[in-house]
Amino acid sequence: SKHKKHIITLLPGDGIGPEITNAMKRVVEATGVLIEWEEHLAGKAAMDKGGDPLPQEVMDSILRNKIALKGPLTTEVGKGFRSVNVQLRKTLNLYANLRPTKSVPSPNTRYMGLDIVVVRENTESLYAGIENEISPGVVQASKIITRDASIRIAKFAFEYARKHKRKKITAIHKANIMKLADGLFLACCREVAEKFPEVQYNEMIVDNCCMQLVMNPNQFDMLLLENLYGDIVSDLCAGLVGGLGVVPGANIGTEASVFEAVHGSAPDIAGKGIANPTAMIFSTALMLEHIGEKAAATKMVNAIYRVLGEGKTVTPDLKGLVAAYELKKKGLNAVVLEQ
Ligand code: NAI
Ligand code: MG
Repeated sequence: SKHKKHIITLLPGDGIGPEITNAMKRVVEATGVLIEWEEHLAGKAAMDKGGDPLPQEVMDSILRNKIALKGPLTTEVGKGFRSVNVQLRKTLNLYANLRPTKSVPSPNTRYMGLDIVVVRENTESLYAGIENEISPGVVQASKIITRDASIRIAKFAFEYARKHKRKKITAIHKANIMKLADGLFLACCREVAEKFPEVQYNEMIVDNCCMQLVMNPNQFDMLLLENLYGDIVSDLCAGLVGGLGVVPGANIGTEASVFEAVHGSAPDIAGKGIANPTAMIFSTALMLEHIGEKAAATKMVNAIYRVLGEGKTVTPDLKGLVAAYELKKKGLNAVVLEQ
């Protein structure tokens, strides 16, 4: 589709969002793919300007174009407006969060050669937003697990595995404690797994999974998780392959799909010109693949790997392991580093 022009909604976002968006735009231009960005403010920037963190025109643009690319949006902790990310997920029914997590060549990469695809249910569990103060000093939060959403996310994961020739899916749970909620999630995963005999299926309790990921991550191929565990474990995975600055994300929905880096607005480094644009660029590559521009996507990803592999032009977050190098020199095997 060499001459096709795509119209994409672009939300640069808060904090480091505008910086990494500018870098991303230059890389996309270099591939020659034709994109018209419909750029909008959202999140804190939109709130400050017009009093609404998710203006209707932004929703309209996404619904019209069906595809959006967004930078990180700032959400205050424990107060303030409701997370725009959660709102987008609910309104657009972005039910599947996909994070292909692959090692990049960098001194900050704990394990080279990792390639784990994380599939996270994106609409329910404890993020359903049902919290009540039952009486002073007692708060109740409800974890919602439904058969429909669990079957849907399991199907998404197994269909992805089939399409991308992945070998194994591990469903992550805490059904020993949450027997009903996580029990239902697991039952749905098993039911779907039976229809995909070519994909291996196993299960693991979430705390053990975290330990196994740190100690022996090569055993994993794809992880399938409900919303809360998915949020936490996917960041852990990012930490293994080079950090939040290098992992892309996609939110696939029934009404539209939103592609985004998994990191936040990084207020601690915003405006300093040191933010790593890799995650944003890889997310854009995922988006290009999704809209049928695979050649451009591959070009972009290869270019980034080449630059990172040269090790000359990297942002400070990727040099974070100088201390670990020192340990290794002393013969202490604190990290796995193969370059
Ligand atoms: P964060 O991801 O913004 O930052 C965590 C650490 O990683 C910081 O030290 C930061 O400097 C570093 N970091 C993140 N991205 C980086 C990049 N591209 N290059 C170099 N270093 C990078 O997470 P934090 O601090 O918990 O959240 C900050 C704000 O971002 C909050 O308001 C939060 O709600 C929001 N947030 C938004 C997300 C989104 O829009 N998808 C996701 C996560 C957080
Ligand atoms: Mg998160």
